[in-house]
Amino acid sequence: MAQLWGGRFTKETDQLVYDFNASITFDRRMYEEDIEGSLAHVKMLARQGILTEKEKEEIVAGLNGILEDVKAGRLEISEQYEDIHSFVEATLTDRIGEPGKKLHTGRSRNDQVALDMKLYVRKETKQLDALLKEMLEALLSIMEEHVDTYMPGFTHLQKAQPITLAHHMGAYFEMFRRDHERLGDILKRMNTCPLGSGALAGTTYPLDRQYTAELLGFEGPTLNSMDGVSDRDYLLELLSALSITMMHLSRFSEEVIIWNSNEYQFVEIDDAYSTGSSIMPQKKNPDIAELVRGKTGRVYGALQALLVSMKGIPLAYNKDMQEDKEWAFDAIDTVQHCLALFTGMLKTMRFKKDRMENSAKHGFTNATDAADYLVNHGVAFRDAHGIVGRLVLLCIEKGIALDELPLEEYQKISPAFQEDIYEAISLGTCVNKRVTTGAPGRDAMLKTLELYHKYMEQY
Ligand code: ARG
Repeated sequence: MAQLWGGRFTKETDQLVYDFNASITFDRRMYEEDIEGSLAHVKMLARQGILTEKEKEEIVAGLNGILEDVKAGRLEISEQYEDIHSFVEATLTDRIGEPGKKLHTGRSRNDQVALDMKLYVRKETKQLDALLKEMLEALLSIMEEHVDTYMPGFTHLQKAQPITLAHHMGAYFEMFRRDHERLGDILKRMNTCPLGSGALAGTTYPLDRQYTAELLGFEGPTLNSMDGVSDRDYLLELLSALSITMMHLSRFSEEVIIWNSNEYQFVEIDDAYSTGSSIMPQKKNPDIAELVRGKTGRVYGALQALLVSMKGIPLAYNKDMQEDKEWAFDAIDTVQHCLALFTGMLKTMRFKKDRMENSAKHGFTNATDAADYLVNHGVAFRDAHGIVGRLVLLCIEKGIALDELPLEEYQKISPAFQEDIYEAISLGTCVNKRVTTGAPGRDAMLKTLELYHKYMEQY
């Protein structure tokens, strides 16, 4: 047991209590941030005349030494300490003696942990954003390649109208770019520095909070010290944003699983991203997509758990807040892994154009267009709907597609049909006539792609 307090205690902490209370097993991952925060703190203390230049230099050198040694694997973060803050401070004092004891002047672990967590989350959020960028780039290149790859668009998982693969991928591009923008909003809103809030009521030392905020890359200091130590909103915002990203990934996974099934065969997942069965030799399973879909539950769980942990906490810091870390870390790790793996799977996936196009042809996805054809020849839409419905029934009986039905059959049901009906209901026509903004038609899609390229240039 190695703890920073004990002066007012007459007995040793019970070992079980100590273990239950300690956070070193999980907050050790914030060692860089803890040291970065301490470096800024001592620089400010010296500038304000609270520490001497010499003390500052010794502390800075000591902290940098600890940082290098931990990074290089020369110094182990020992779990005998209560938390990462205690480990760094105790190691510093072991190494440099007296000046080490002055590191914590004008600071509490409450503002220290609030700072460490913000620094850590800011770094990881940027990493998440970089992974979203890779996903968007992968989607954009698939879109570029498949402007003319026809496939059925679905509603109720029933074939509805023909679209293109570019259009389908474009829907995910929209989802993931909103995810990127949400991360940007969070980074902006969380960009205030809690250091200097003290335990809850600020400190009596003349700290320059603006200076430490600047050193640590924040816009400025937090403006209420009680809130400074007990705000976890930004974590809840991040977990909400990550839950939404996982919802998107999970829907996408579900589609990949369906598309990769024996029945659909719209895609083939690369061998490197598939797994086999221990008993059925023929199997090639989409485990990665299934795991991503499954892991969505963990991230939703993290959001829910932290919301519930926070809801009854009176101001200001309470130990409940230590519970933020494992949830946040797990959610961040999970989403980073899922994004990286899903993007890898997407980049190597083979799209079977013929299967997609054939499926679009044989599901009456052009029925709306056949009705529109009649409307353009003077038939009221409701009547046209009925006429095409009868044609579809006829084709189902014959086991053929609408464009395989002879013209005489068309004309038996409505004389408005002419030879040009076949052109009007071809997949190419059905898709390419849809050119309103956001539609799959070639001209509309090329404009959208141009906007997406500009978007990525500014990412
Ligand atoms: N490990 C603690 C946490 O994660 C650090 C803050 C401890 N502060 C305190 N007053 N016990 O929240």
